[in-house]
Amino acid sequence: MGHTLPMAGKVVLITGGTGGIGKATAIGLAAMGARVGITGRDLARAEHAAADVRTTAGNPAVDAFAADMTSQAEVRRLAVAVLDAYPRLDVLINNVGGFWAHHHPTADGLERTFALDHLAPFLLTNLLLDRLKASAPARVVTVSSGAQSMGRIDFDDLQGARNYSGQRAYNQSKLANIMFTNELAHRLEGTGVMANSVHPGVVRTNFGAEDQAWFFSIISRVVRPLLKTPAQGAETSIYLASSPEMDGVTGQFFANRKSKRPNKVAFDTEMTAKLWNVSAALVGLTPAIPVTKPGGLT
Ligand SMILES: NC(=O)c1ccc[n+]([C@@H]2O[C@H](COP(=O)([O-])OP(=O)(O)OC[C@H]3O[C@@H](n4cnc5c(N)ncnc54)[C@H](OP(=O)(O)O)[C@@H]3O)[C@@H](O)[C@H]2O)c1
Repeated sequence: MGHTLPMAGKVVLITGGTGGIGKATAIGLAAMGARVGITGRDLARAEHAAADVRTTAGNPAVDAFAADMTSQAEVRRLAVAVLDAYPRLDVLINNVGGFWAHHHPTADGLERTFALDHLAPFLLTNLLLDRLKASAPARVVTVSSGAQSMGRIDFDDLQGARNYSGQRAYNQSKLANIMFTNELAHRLEGTGVMANSVHPGVVRTNFGAEDQAWFFSIISRVVRPLLKTPAQGAETSIYLASSPEMDGVTGQFFANRKSKRPNKVAFDTEMTAKLWNVSAALVGLTPAIPVTKPGGLT
């Protein structure tokens, strides 16, 4: 007698799914029967990772998308490709993120950490929101970090132009992930789309390898064997994406599958609305998207 897998019939998009936590998340959800789309910067690498996910998960329904998400034009192109490929979208996992010890401008002239870790998920989610609402009940999971607790949003210097620190930029973006999630949850009330954020733990991946701070590279070499495996780091993302226990749960921050209290700024509705509006202007989603009334947005 056959049995139905728990995610059969569901479609999931995971950004940054070619390695690390994102790939492990893709394997977990594909093994549960979902059709899974993964993204990376290079199509050949994304196709190769998709083939690995298919084999490991025993599920042929894995698709590869390519976009350098530091570029807003590429995020928009990715959204069009996803909307073309998927008539429904049940789960969006905003997993992509990075850390740079030095200030790097993007093609749009923005600071790379803020552009990739915060503005890319902000823009992609907004571009896919109608599809998520049409597929409700649906879920948006955004991968933040424990670094959010040290975060501060510097509205006077969001791009770190005056005084850049890699750690400060990362802390700020990871706090922005949670503020975005809480504001999104608020704006989506009554639509059946849930939005939650997650700290995956400290995980053995390629994270930060492109431009690592010297102390980080020494510490990470020493502690690397003690870190979570990517599969362990993916557990909470998979739980938020798939568990029936998460039905109706929104606007919360999770670590180790448990709801945790994040940085108190994440509950400051004036700050979360301000960040939303500033972000909307930076990605060209203007006029600012109004707060939804139960029943629908836009
Ligand atoms: N590792 C940790 O200890 C840890 C702790 C807390 C939070 N996190 C968060 O967890 C998330 C995943 O991190 P990870 O450790 O798995 O990182 P990772 O091993 O560096 O993987 C990053 C993924 O993002 C993709 N990517 C990188 N730059 C990109 C870009 N410009 N455009 C599109 N895709 C890009 C990479 O694909 P390609 O290289 O193929 O483009 C890869 O699939 C991040 O949001 C991170 O902040 C990680």
